[in-house]
Amino acid sequence: MVTGKIGTILVTGSSGQLGQSLKMIAKDYSDYGFTFAQREQLDLSNGKSITAFFKQNKFDLIINCAAYTAVDKAESEPELADKINHIAVKQLAELAKQYNTKLIHISTDYVFNGQNYKPYIETDEVAPQSVYGETKLKGEQALLAEMPNSALIIRTSWVYSEYGNNFVKTMLRLGKERDALNVIFDQIGTPTYAHDLAQAIMAIVSSDTFKQANVNSEIYHYSNEGVCSWYDFSKTIFELSNINCDVSPIETKDYPTPAMRPHYSLLNKAKIKHEFNLSIPYWKESLKQCLKTIGE
Ligand SMILES: NC(=O)c1ccc[n+]([C@@H]2O[C@H](COP(=O)([O-])OP(=O)(O)OC[C@H]3O[C@@H](n4cnc5c(N)ncnc54)[C@H](OP(=O)(O)O)[C@@H]3O)[C@@H](O)[C@H]2O)c1
Repeated sequence: MVTGKIGTILVTGSSGQLGQSLKMIAKDYSDYGFTFAQREQLDLSNGKSITAFFKQNKFDLIINCAAYTAVDKAESEPELADKINHIAVKQLAELAKQYNTKLIHISTDYVFNGQNYKPYIETDEVAPQSVYGETKLKGEQALLAEMPNSALIIRTSWVYSEYGNNFVKTMLRLGKERDALNVIFDQIGTPTYAHDLAQAIMAIVSSDTFKQANVNSEIYHYSNEGVCSWYDFSKTIFELSNINCDVSPIETKDYPTPAMRPHYSLLNKAKIKHEFNLSIPYWKESLKQCLKTIGE
């Protein structure tokens, strides 16, 4: 039986955007003993190394931030994407159950087909359109099958941060290199500042609801508040950074990519806000914070 007490936390994928954001705020949560594991310490594509790692190291909670996130590349590497986003998640859930460990796993809006007309709720029908989305969905399903209790899945969208490669950093680079850019306007969603998601995760971990023993495993949706297209997002990045770059809206069909992306990615966050009493920042305010941190 999983007890409610959480003392030690393993963060996987600690060199990624969310992993680094959690590392940055960990100092504000000194009651917990954090272990931040990169791929070198815990390779999720290698089942034997996962088993060996957990034989040696025990935790009260795993926050799984590691994932195969190269959406286009996944179309030509489906087996590797499946290993990391599905098989490894199943194994993490098996081990978590075996060692009485809670599990917070991160998933994606790409589990949906993007044809909705109102923000997706957690129980809406799933129908991934890409290998990445399919493998992430299988990871969710395997986790819930292995761990009906003590796990939590957070689906998020359009993650950016001061770390790694992401849309904001790409736009900042391209906006300085070029006078004009074409950006897609027929895909809408909400950006998520990884720092805000990290704060939300730690608020959840510290909540009385999560501390209860053997809570039912649940899916939640989290992004920043508000709505925009990639076009609006890029315009706002340039406005806030005083970059003079002319942005023209184009359609998805004019920018073909190996993987299909959802046209509509809005996530309804009522459940996570209500259950954990969260207040979520508006995306433009969070973007300002991120740009300030980047130094733009
Ligand atoms: N980025 C988005 O727009 C977005 C949107 C929706 C949902 N999500 C989900 O949010 C979560 C966090 O995403 P993120 O943006 O922080 O991703 P990220 O920056 O790409 O980080 C992913 C992390 O996973 C690690 N990783 C990859 N393969 C691994 C392996 N075989 N073993 C161990 N670690 C491995 C990477 O390690 P290396 O640094 O060594 O490569 C990296 O640290 C993921 O579950 C992702 O699916 C992301």
